[in-house]
Amino acid sequence: MKKTEKILIAGHKGMVGSAVGRALKARGYTNLINIDRNEADLRNQQQVFDFMEANRPDVVIIAAAKVGGIMANNTYRGEFLYDNLMIEANLIEASRRVGVKKLLFLGSSCIYPKFAEQPIREESLLSGTLEFTNEPYAIAKITGIKLCESYYRQYGCNYFSAMPTNLYGPGDNFDLEKSHVLPALMRKFHEGKTTGSDHVIVWGTGTVLRDFMYVEDLASAVVFLLENVSAADIYEKGISHINIGTGSDVTISALAELVKDIIGFQGKIIYDATKPDGTPRKLMDASRLHELGWESSVSLEEGIRRTYKWFLENSENIKR
Ligand SMILES: NC(=O)c1ccc[n+]([C@@H]2O[C@H](COP(=O)([O-])OP(=O)(O)OC[C@H]3O[C@@H](n4cnc5c(N)ncnc54)[C@H](OP(=O)(O)O)[C@@H]3O)[C@@H](O)[C@H]2O)c1
Repeated sequence: MKKTEKILIAGHKGMVGSAVGRALKARGYTNLINIDRNEADLRNQQQVFDFMEANRPDVVIIAAAKVGGIMANNTYRGEFLYDNLMIEANLIEASRRVGVKKLLFLGSSCIYPKFAEQPIREESLLSGTLEFTNEPYAIAKITGIKLCESYYRQYGCNYFSAMPTNLYGPGDNFDLEKSHVLPALMRKFHEGKTTGSDHVIVWGTGTVLRDFMYVEDLASAVVFLLENVSAADIYEKGISHINIGTGSDVTISALAELVKDIIGFQGKIIYDATKPDGTPRKLMDASRLHELGWESSVSLEEGIRRTYKWFLENSENIKR
């Protein structure tokens, strides 16, 4: 990929999109473009087609999506399905129409069946029933994967998908109604510490296992894939996408203890088992990406420290 290629990052203001933008700039890419929501609502086909016709990028990264934790996924089921379907379908079809040379679509590990064999290999896609709480989101993301694959098979488009594990880092969503587990824990322990509370309530049993990746590592993996992998490399191996993960997982209770220690909260942790746990274990098998030559480099502890530093420095401006 030439350093002067025109690269569109859809979702450039989000946690992932902004990290990918920083990583591309650091690598010397000079021609990055964005779509602002007031210029084009990505759910609106005409606005997306007009933008793409006017700007004609060479490369497109789809990091725009309606994203949230278990509660948001389960409550706004219609929006999670509709918004995500429209965003990806509009961007992928518009890319084909204007001749985009390479497109990377980002999904997430919730595309996999609830009881997928662990660690989860790419082949597990569509091999079982999905977790109910995030089924609409997962169906939308699976459709995005299949759009990229089908556009490769029908039109020869160099479009493919990567499924990152759980991510966290600067720019994350710390709104307790909508956030994922790690930023929610950070906010709860921070507030517990500042108010002098003697306990913090953590949703679920604490026993489920998850893999967490620092978003700067994910951004490095995205740049690696854009530079080194093509659609043919993926589909001709008989898979429809590639996993991005660290290769190891922790229980939510171990994560909670780590966040608690880093923040310095002195009280107790109480687990609220009436709240949903989600899938019992979700560890992605990232061996394909590792074999290609990419590994994550930021440990969980270091990533949480960096994220908490960012949280403290930005706490007045955090809107969510
Ligand atoms: N966060 C994770 O743990 C995680 C894990 C695995 C995969 N991923 C994937 O990474 C991608 C990005 O996630 P993220 O955590 O960066 O989410 P995020 O911080 O919420 O960012 C999402 C971005 O999408 C934009 N967007 C949403 N709806 C839009 C619309 N209708 N029109 C225009 N822009 C719209 C948002 O724009 P505004 O800023 O204007 O709202 C925002 O910039 C998603 O595909 C997600 O599945 C995330």
